[in-house]
Amino acid sequence: MKRPIGIIDSGVGGLTVAKEIARQLPKEEMIYIGDTARCPYGSRPSQEVRAFTWEMIERLLDENIKMLVIACNTATAVVLEEVREALSIPVVGVVQPGAIAALKVTTRNHIAVIGTEGTVTSGAYVKALEMINEKVKVESLACPAFVPLVEQGTYNREETYKIVKKSLDPLFGVSFDTLILGCTHYPLLHDVIQSVVGDHISLISSGEETAREVSTILNYKELLCTGIRTPRHTFYTTGSTKRFAAIANRWMEGAVTEISKLSLGNTASFSME
Ligand code: DGL
Repeated sequence: MKRPIGIIDSGVGGLTVAKEIARQLPKEEMIYIGDTARCPYGSRPSQEVRAFTWEMIERLLDENIKMLVIACNTATAVVLEEVREALSIPVVGVVQPGAIAALKVTTRNHIAVIGTEGTVTSGAYVKALEMINEKVKVESLACPAFVPLVEQGTYNREETYKIVKKSLDPLFGVSFDTLILGCTHYPLLHDVIQSVVGDHISLISSGEETAREVSTILNYKELLCTGIRTPRHTFYTTGSTKRFAAIANRWMEGAVTEISKLSLGNTASFSME
């Protein structure tokens, strides 16, 4: 079926999921919205996250999407259930896939989760992990400094390493073996985080498992695109198209051809080019 998959995030983080969907499902067309102008969502009250997320969803429903991917842990934690109930199309979040991926690789059932304040406070990962395995031990830590680093595109500097190290300090001496990057922005800091925690820790990004879930659901519902097809994806940002393009082109390795500016609610007043 030729209708697009809709993907939303507060900014560029959801590109880590979009990249995996493009890799696993190269015939599928994606329409992506990053609400960069109002990012970060992680420190906002849940009512605000809910309202902003619904604005993106409404916009994507106008594009006749066949499936929605909430590629933002913060938004997933706040609205996934109500969005699923309200929409007739399949809706996939990123928390459950991240939890499943972590449980596959942990050797001692001791997992740490890092995420935004919103995600950590919601306890969404602890619930998702314990729902599958109640014996798992979970450490949770909010890392509010990470998303601004990613949105600014400053992930390979000396300063970045220092900030990441300082943020992860509370986890030192804790004997977990698997670390869930519980925010879709964090895989863009993967190498820095890995060098801080050490190679003996398995890092989990939900992108791969989320894309697998998307694939399974589309297949089961007979919604997959078939035939010869090279899709053209559409990317919208409510913020600076220039900054978004710089990060998107680097991360998506050329799969992003066009980025358009989108106004949602009061984003015009937040925006800066
Ligand atoms: N990328 C998002 C997440 O996975 C949100 C980051 C933010 O806006 O704070 O939680």
